[in-house]
Amino acid sequence: MEQKLMEYKTLNENLRKLVCGVDTEIPLNDGEMVTAINFDNAATTPPFVSALEEINNFSPWYSSIHRGTGYKSMLSSTLYENSRAVVSRFVGSDTDYNTVIFVKNTTEAINKLSYRLCNGDKKNTVLSTGMEHHSNDLPWRDKFNIDYVETDGCGRLSLKDLENKLIKYNDDVKLVTITGASNVTGYINPIYEIARLTHKYNAQLLVDAAQLVPHAPVDMKSIDSPEHIDYLVFSAHKMYAPFGIGVLIGPKQNFDIGNPDYVGGGTIQLVTRKYVMWDAPPHKDEAGSPNVMGVAALVGAIKTLNMIGMKNIEQCEKKLTKYTLEKLKKIPDIQLYCNADDKQPQVGIIPFNIKGVHHSITAKILSYEAGIAVRSGCFCAQPYMQKILKVSEEDIGNYVEKRKFPPYGVVRISFGVYNTIEEVDILVDMLMDIIKYKDQYLKKYKSTQEQLYFPNV
Ligand SMILES: Cc1ncc(COP(=O)(O)O)c(C=O)c1O
Repeated sequence: MEQKLMEYKTLNENLRKLVCGVDTEIPLNDGEMVTAINFDNAATTPPFVSALEEINNFSPWYSSIHRGTGYKSMLSSTLYENSRAVVSRFVGSDTDYNTVIFVKNTTEAINKLSYRLCNGDKKNTVLSTGMEHHSNDLPWRDKFNIDYVETDGCGRLSLKDLENKLIKYNDDVKLVTITGASNVTGYINPIYEIARLTHKYNAQLLVDAAQLVPHAPVDMKSIDSPEHIDYLVFSAHKMYAPFGIGVLIGPKQNFDIGNPDYVGGGTIQLVTRKYVMWDAPPHKDEAGSPNVMGVAALVGAIKTLNMIGMKNIEQCEKKLTKYTLEKLKKIPDIQLYCNADDKQPQVGIIPFNIKGVHHSITAKILSYEAGIAVRSGCFCAQPYMQKILKVSEEDIGNYVEKRKFPPYGVVRISFGVYNTIEEVDILVDMLMDIIKYKDQYLKKYKSTQEQLYFPNV
């Protein structure tokens, strides 16, 4: 056990060298300087050094892409176009069949797909789930008949309900859209089993992989496999390349038809006053000048993820999550909101509350007193949070009627590959301190008016 822990610590030290900013010192409320601890990786991750290097190395060659005939322009175009294959390989996409469209982020990718699949007839059904981020719920609402696959009391997806709903809609479901891993509970959904079920009832599957691709291997599989994933979306800023790039992958033929959601430069082959001939995918769906630097950074990040190995990343984060959960479970005043086991795997996300302390106050104390960044609230997944926290219909109705911001929520720790056991120990000590001196802390942080001091950054 001791030996294993040592090996893990050495590996961890090496992994930290790959990430920018892990040693940054920040001021606490009392002015003391400490090394920042970032447990908010589900929101966004710091850049890999390799992503920055890729940008730096490419910068002397950077130029406008696609139509330029200058040497640098042609080189930039080649880098941009070749990146699609790098991304495809990373997630096992069938390059003959699928197209890789570069967008801003997961939210834009899902919105784009919702416009592509919508034919103006709201009778088409999309099955979303009760555990989605708003970005995989709201884009479908105004264009489709939307229904939600239920979750159980612990927030786990019910495959039984998925199949019941697929049967109920009698082969009329256009798309099942499901998160690969929840950004609230960290639960990983069995995407290949879901793909099999979805295809059995002649529907297609979109996996929102924003929280999965950075933390575990993902394989879209060949189109011939009943377990293939039809559409995949994810954001580079959650995978160590925060430079405004996201990815939408899906069947070329489905992007061939119809008009793009955004139109303008880069989307066409021929335009007259009366006629427009769209370019082929993916260009048709990438209006305006593309974010070449963002793509370069993503390629740099993918190289590092591949070098570490997604299986290793998964294992490392699993160990850290298990270690943290074991510690937190022993603290009586901590209420956990995830219930993962071997049957219900989980990425490194842990939602919790300290009994008697509002989630926003806990997050604030951790930041101001220990330099630990976590997130608190509902994490853009309010319907899921309402279910997990068992908020009554009556209360929800009251918030809606009074147009009140919901006061409920939890604290979320989310790990990246560079987080360490030592950092978790600091967190656990701080949580125990908050619990021990709860009254003093509550008095000190009752008002939310404290001013943070920001050094020149
Ligand atoms: C599961 C999930 N889907 C979608 C999104 C939206 O990602 P983005 O803000 O990069 O568009 C997030 C962001 O946290 C997420 O966690």
